[in-house]
Amino acid sequence: MKIAVVAETRSGERRVALVPGLVERLTGAGLDVAVEPGAGVSSGFADDEYRAAGAVVTPEALAGAGVVLSVQPFDARRVAELAPHAITVSFLPTGQELDHVRAVRDAGHTAFAMELVPRISRAQAMDALSSQAFVAGYRAALVAAERLPRFLPLSMTASGTIRPATVLVLGAGVAGLQAIATMRRLGAVVRAYDVRSAAAEEVRSLGAEFVHVELPALDGAGGYAREMTEERSRLQRELLAPHVADADVLITTAAVPGRPAPLLVTGPMVAAMRPGSVVVDLAAESGGNVEGAKPGEEVIVGDVLVWGGRDVPSQLPAQASQLYSANVVNLLSLLMRSDGELSPDFDDEIIAACCVAHAGEVRHAPTRALLGEELS
Ligand code: NAI
Repeated sequence: MKIAVVAETRSGERRVALVPGLVERLTGAGLDVAVEPGAGVSSGFADDEYRAAGAVVTPEALAGAGVVLSVQPFDARRVAELAPHAITVSFLPTGQELDHVRAVRDAGHTAFAMELVPRISRAQAMDALSSQAFVAGYRAALVAAERLPRFLPLSMTASGTIRPATVLVLGAGVAGLQAIATMRRLGAVVRAYDVRSAAAEEVRSLGAEFVHVELPALDGAGGYAREMTEERSRLQRELLAPHVADADVLITTAAVPGRPAPLLVTGPMVAAMRPGSVVVDLAAESGGNVEGAKPGEEVIVGDVLVWGGRDVPSQLPAQASQLYSANVVNLLSLLMRSDGELSPDFDDEIIAACCVAHAGEVRHAPTRALLGEELS
């Protein structure tokens, strides 16, 4: 069976779905790997590295492929080039990609969405949301450190003592914890807040202080946060305002699955920060945690620089690709049958959860609802 790796075409996407170092995991299992020319170049992997790893590099990679690997949904106009009953594996935000879902369904292919891999222990090695959030959290800390016009660590010199910078992280999930860990390594004093009660212990274990606000925790299903009421959001903003004003760096990462990012920090809260402070909003693409943050842009609010994240994992494309590739290859291993063919076993809860379409049917209930379809 031929596995195709496409060259990503969407603007801002620098990752590749399979790095050369993981080609052998597939060829060793008896699969052929075909890579489109230049697929790995923007993440630092040359065509020759793929060839040396045992892949074929060809513009015809998609032709007759039984599996297509990509980071972004691959070009749905090309579904006809695939083998019958082919499998596509990519991020697939179905709400924004209904035409893509229809094309895959109508062609009778099977589509897996990496963001739908359930957050259970057995699926951790396939959890691309976590691996990419890990990259984004690290990048957020470095962006802030580089833009901040002051030292981060406490420094005692013969010429005097420099006080450490104070960093506030709002949202202590995967990205937030990595931002905290990175800022701690750089020597900053770090405080963090999250609506989930479990986050407090994780924050403290990284040597940061958990900010307590007098509000009930909002633990939801699957370890995720629940959405807040407007009244609770207002109160949260009010209670966090002094902590924001006291920070030299604010990093926000808060998200609620399936919802726009919660607004945690208003323009006046940002403007109340000291001149030269830096805000990094990793949620800028999904609505923004910080009022005024623009994805992919740096804007000035008061005397504060606000950096809005856009395609953040792609800003560290080599390692983001390495981790994503491992997630994808681990998912493929789960699809592997004893005869070496790949096919979904829907009794497996991971497969069942992340399969969007199969055999002419949309299986993912929320997507089906968006398409106005009933399950037959
Ligand atoms: P996420 O990207 O959905 O959200 C980021 C963070 O924002 C979360 O920690 C959330 O609690 C927080 N948040 C939401 N609303 C907020 C608000 N109004 N104020 C402050 N913080 C707010 O979450 P992520 O990072 O993908 O994962 C969250 C949690 O899910 C993890 O910490 C873990 O408990 C669980 N998880 C479990 C995994 C597993 O068991 N395999 C893998 C990954 C995550």
